[in-house]
Amino acid sequence: MSEPVQTPQTFPTRIFSGIQPSGGLTLGNYLGALKRFVQKQDEGIETIYCIVDMHAITVWQDPAKLRQQTRELAAGFIAAGIDPARSILFNQSQVSAHVELGWIFNTVARMGWMSRMTQFKDKAGKNSENVSLGLFAYPALMAADILAYKATHVPVGEDQKQHLELTRDIAAKFNNDYGVNFFPITEPVIEGAGTRVMSLRDGTKKMSKSDPSDQSRINLTDDTDTIAKKFRKAKTDAEPLPEDLEGLKDRPDARNLVNIYAALADITPEAVISQYAGAQFGTFKPALADLAVAKLSPITRKMSELMQDTTEIDRILGAGAARANAIARPIVDEVYDIIGMIRSRQI
Ligand code: AMP
Ligand code: TRP
Repeated sequence: MSEPVQTPQTFPTRIFSGIQPSGGLTLGNYLGALKRFVQKQDEGIETIYCIVDMHAITVWQDPAKLRQQTRELAAGFIAAGIDPARSILFNQSQVSAHVELGWIFNTVARMGWMSRMTQFKDKAGKNSENVSLGLFAYPALMAADILAYKATHVPVGEDQKQHLELTRDIAAKFNNDYGVNFFPITEPVIEGAGTRVMSLRDGTKKMSKSDPSDQSRINLTDDTDTIAKKFRKAKTDAEPLPEDLEGLKDRPDARNLVNIYAALADITPEAVISQYAGAQFGTFKPALADLAVAKLSPITRKMSELMQDTTEIDRILGAGAARANAIARPIVDEVYDIIGMIRSRQI
């Protein structure tokens, strides 16, 4: 871990993160999340990864599609290198501790805190009267996902930073309101060049699965030609690549491509610049496309292989959910005790 752990000794290092099954995976999800999830697993840390289907339904989902996307996302996790024997991989709705603690956190979080969430404001836009109540409450459920496991570290992309600050506030307020040191103050893990992958059409906007333009993103299911074409057409300026990073300061589109290259190659943006200083995009873009294809196509291939056997995927998710439940159930039961709920049911 690159940062010193600030949580007390009583909370052993445990990683939790989640991705919504609300569409296909993008290069942003891969570099900002999945790839780093695999690194944490391979460092030998306890890792719990969740397909957050309960979050996905805060915006209406077609049931058949939701099932398909949940399985596809599971296949994506495994194809990217998550080993269900070493990490716990499951879908959220199979472990009821999440929604139970989510409700309790709805009573801990304050309206003012929730109203400041920029992702809600972005997603609701001018339509805030018509979006679901769940979309507003979403970050409290996210805090529950994390704290149901007393997770100490959460790897995410930059866009989730505010939600993790809220998670810390909820944990601190719960501990304070009930006079306990029960929940850890979770650390966000936002590191590396891939934590904010931008749109290929606009380097000031996040690459997103919900962008209406498919040209703006690389999907993990794109074929080799499509990936090459999208990089070739990516928006850039007319200047060659500069001699140092400082030269990319006001060039968001160029900066984005350099960051993507660095994250894919596991090197720093500085190293990319020193290799390509003075190069035209006519040279750099094909090199980037080749690198992306080399890194992504084995994952795409593995994903479609895994999708041939959805029974096996469902089995993996079920087994992961049983392991997740074994951790979360006693933690949430203890929360009920702390807050004063009678627990006398025998069966
Ligand atoms: P979502 O698809 O919104 O559920 O996001 C799942 C994970 O991918 C979260 O950790 C996000 O922060 C991360 N993520 C999504 N889009 C990007 C992006 N454009 N750049 C970096 N990380 C991203
Ligand atoms: N809110 C996250 C996103 O949209 C997904 C998510 C839900 C999550 N619960 C989480 C991420 C818990 C990390 C930890 O990307």
